[in-house]
Amino acid sequence: MLLDLAARRRVLFLGGKGGVGKTSIASAVALSRARAGQRVLVVSTDPAHNLGHLWRRTVGDDIVRLDTAPGGGHLDGVEVDPERTTAAHLSAVRATLRRIVPEHLGGEVDRHLDLARDAPGMHEAAVLERVADLTEQGLAGYDLVVFDTAPSGHTARLLSLPETMGAWTDGLLRRRDRSERLGGAAQMLGGRGESEARRDAEIRSVLTRRRERFTLLREVLTDPGRCAFVVVLAAERLPVLESVELVEQLSTLQVPVGGLVVNKRSPADAGPLLAARHEAERAHLDALRERLGHLPLDEVPLLGDDLVGPDALDRLAGFL
Ligand SMILES: Nc1ncnc2c1ncn2[C@@H]1O[C@H](COP(=O)(O)OP(=O)(O)O)[C@@H](O)[C@H]1O
Ligand SMILES: [Mg+2]
Repeated sequence: MLLDLAARRRVLFLGGKGGVGKTSIASAVALSRARAGQRVLVVSTDPAHNLGHLWRRTVGDDIVRLDTAPGGGHLDGVEVDPERTTAAHLSAVRATLRRIVPEHLGGEVDRHLDLARDAPGMHEAAVLERVADLTEQGLAGYDLVVFDTAPSGHTARLLSLPETMGAWTDGLLRRRDRSERLGGAAQMLGGRGESEARRDAEIRSVLTRRRERFTLLREVLTDPGRCAFVVVLAAERLPVLESVELVEQLSTLQVPVGGLVVNKRSPADAGPLLAARHEAERAHLDALRERLGHLPLDEVPLLGDDLVGPDALDRLAGFL
């Protein structure tokens, strides 16, 4: 399921609980598409990054090459650093605000933003802006972008943000509209300088640019022709319940769900302990199918060795 889906979409999101195999599966599917000749970017937004570990190299906040395939495809990767992203986001907001407010309130802006750095939602807003950025960059320079996301609840909240952020930017733009109209009137009366008009135009362009970025993200996220969300889980009671909940949340957000990957499935024929687990898992999978039977499902077996490096990922992709 997942490999077919990846071949027919431009953007994939992989979500699910920590430890279920999101990063491994994201890398496996990304590698497989790169080996099919595509330009692929894998983006980790989980603060608990392990993309680097998987590829036995340092991956950071800047895009690096992870694999070059003989057929002309390649795989790039990036781990979004929430601290750096938040700092960059705040300094952009600071620059914009400092241009909006009168000079003597500059210190106020700084104090406000220093407090905002640790405010709830700030990391999310910053990471979302980065996701929007990388989506735009990905659509322009890659055939496929695979987002390896943070655990479920966090991601669903994140995906609902473009709307909120868009509304916020809209509000600011409307206020600019009003003040520009007033400013225009003042200018006719000779009370407003050219530099102020230029500043207004600049602020407007920053806000419009931001608005466009969120609109694009929202459009991509809700376009079943370009994007799909895949839920990765283990065949256990809580993960099944959480996955059902996540799929419901995604449907509410109109984000198309492409399917489910049940990872680390215990074998039936490798001793009594694993056989018992296999049976228990079957009951949970039945419950899953009862609720989400309409979604395609891949089962990936529990593998005995460490999943590190391209050969192991290639083997993992064989199950998708
Ligand atoms: N099918 C599998 N069989 C065995 N180990 C697996 C399998 N899939 C993932 N793992 C291992 O499970 C651990 C967590 O996987 P990871 O991809 O980092 O999960 P996540 O990104 O969801 O936290 C890693 O050590 C990985 O090698
Ligand atoms: Mg991970």
